[in-house]
Amino acid sequence: MIPLIIARKRDGGELTRAELERIVLGYVRGDVPDYQVAAWLMACYLNGLTDAETLALTEIMAASGETLDLSSIDAPTLDKHSTGGVGDKTSLVLVPLLAAGGVALAKMSGRGLGFTGGTVDKLESIPGYRTELTAQEMMSQVQRIGCCLVGQSASLAPADKLLYALRDATATVESIPLIAASIMSKKLAGGARHILLDVKVGSGAFMETRDRAEALAHALCRIGTGAGRRTQAVLTDMSQPLGYTVGNALEVREAIETLRPDGRAHPRFRALIIHLAAQAFTMCGLEPSIEQGVARAEQLMHSGDALRKFQQMVEAQGGDPRVAENPDLLPRAPIVAEHRAHQSGYVAQIHPRLVALTALQLGAGRQKKEDAIDHAVGIEVLKAVGDPVEAGEPVFRVHARAETQLAQAHNTLQNALQIAPEPVAPIAVVLS
Ligand code: URA
Repeated sequence: MIPLIIARKRDGGELTRAELERIVLGYVRGDVPDYQVAAWLMACYLNGLTDAETLALTEIMAASGETLDLSSIDAPTLDKHSTGGVGDKTSLVLVPLLAAGGVALAKMSGRGLGFTGGTVDKLESIPGYRTELTAQEMMSQVQRIGCCLVGQSASLAPADKLLYALRDATATVESIPLIAASIMSKKLAGGARHILLDVKVGSGAFMETRDRAEALAHALCRIGTGAGRRTQAVLTDMSQPLGYTVGNALEVREAIETLRPDGRAHPRFRALIIHLAAQAFTMCGLEPSIEQGVARAEQLMHSGDALRKFQQMVEAQGGDPRVAENPDLLPRAPIVAEHRAHQSGYVAQIHPRLVALTALQLGAGRQKKEDAIDHAVGIEVLKAVGDPVEAGEPVFRVHARAETQLAQAHNTLQNALQIAPEPVAPIAVVLS
């Protein structure tokens, strides 16, 4: 039976929901061996999936474990997802900002692996912060304060975890329907009625070209809408690091600075936050237009309400709430040194993957799942594409644990920066 199902997919046919269930749920139960699932995945990779297959696969994966029931929450529920990038600390700011504005979020995030950072690792740089809450604890916190920000629960969409590991080992990760089903299975299991997707485009993102990012955004929205959730996607730039920092505690510090009414916010990062918040407020029906959504988001930042919500969330999850007023309580690296421009001109490129590699070499990320990370180390990015720069001016600030790491960081960063003699146009953060 299973070989016949694989053969039909291999020959370009469409599988039914029942057939997909046989493969996916059979695999989760241990009845279908991984060599058969691997063959089916490769057939999916090569022939693609129809919209009906993609939706059915997503719903099967979403229902393969526990699901959160948010129906008792007396506010519009929303989940957001970013496809990930370098310096992407958006959830740390957006979750409390939206909660302060009346949206309920039971947000689950991942850990970093390879060149991408993970929100959970960033949060764990806050002394005491618990990233593992039970479903009951999540629900009661969302009822009480409107949000929680925790690690992805292993009991949600277990089929996705198993299939992802097999895709990783069989060169079948880079299939748009499989990526979309994987992402949306976790969002559907998370129970929110509204889903806001931030699809990153550029050399620091999973989707390096605009065409592929658009295809992914459409696939994600078709699944969400097909499953009865209000779903919207925004395409945003990831051709340079996002904001001023890359590294765990440094990014939490930047998130706090962005939330503070008098804080130093990076203009591109702040623009992204306000745009996403405005989309969320309008899709949840809390504001009638994007302009009014923008005004609400600005007001929540200026009044300090968004920062207070962040502080409340940190405290509710066992973290030290004083970090919101005094970010010096976050871990700090013993060595801080500047990396300077070697010529004058205009910043033409800041290669996000090389900045991420530097952070990884400093110890801010992990190459293998079991690696420990150093929360204190990372990079400050002091310039953006289009900025004028003088020879000898600092472009990066390296936060390192040891002198040997610092020397390696200077080497990698040298290649991360390109300076042009002619003016270079800045790049908008929101693409569409
Ligand atoms: N992120 C996911 O959650 N799944 C994929 O398949 C790729 C990126």
